[in-house]
Amino acid sequence: MKNIVILISGGGSNMKSIVERARRGQWREKHLAQIALIVSNDPHASGIQWAKQQGLKTLVVDHKLHQHAPEPRLSFERELIKALEPHQPDLLVLAGFMRILSPHFVGHYEGKMMNIHPSLLPAFTGLHTHQRALDAGVKFAGASVHWVSQELDAGRIIDQAVVPILPGDQASDLASRVLTQEHLLYPRVIENWLMSASGLLHL
Ligand code: GAR
Repeated sequence: MKNIVILISGGGSNMKSIVERARRGQWREKHLAQIALIVSNDPHASGIQWAKQQGLKTLVVDHKLHQHAPEPRLSFERELIKALEPHQPDLLVLAGFMRILSPHFVGHYEGKMMNIHPSLLPAFTGLHTHQRALDAGVKFAGASVHWVSQELDAGRIIDQAVVPILPGDQASDLASRVLTQEHLLYPRVIENWLMSASGLLHL
């Protein structure tokens, strides 16, 4: 049984799709995994309210409370690691978690941390991916799930979903078309990883 911890910063729609898939796919009943904890770095993240209503364990580790520490990022991450340890995470799922993580944190969870990024990596790493895709005039966009490595949005790609860019698209149109695919892609990647880890699927 794997312990999954999901980290969010906002609405958490990807988190919701994963939690719903875990229920429908009976991950717990099949001894594949449990959603051990939902963490937000923002106390106002609406996804945290939803998770609480679902009866999930939630935790806020507010990065802003560390902004006056000598090394704010490290101080925040130290608290985060301390908070995560009791839950013995086998997989950290970054789902719209909008903090850049230091090599220290990434190294601590090496090979155990996935992220979803709203572009067809390696194109358009970082922020404002949809506007940048439109500005570049590409004809296809999408989302990528990848292992987190020391370099931003550059870890090994696990799977991707592709959507067309249509004439007249605004960044918001593209964002919602990509997000719809993210909600299918991320739960599927995690479920495949779980099945592979328990010998039920050979990837
Ligand atoms: C998603 O589109 C996700 O790919 C993106 O933030 C959104 C979060 O939505 N993540 C990043 O840009 C990470 N660099 P959600 O909170 O509704 O899941």
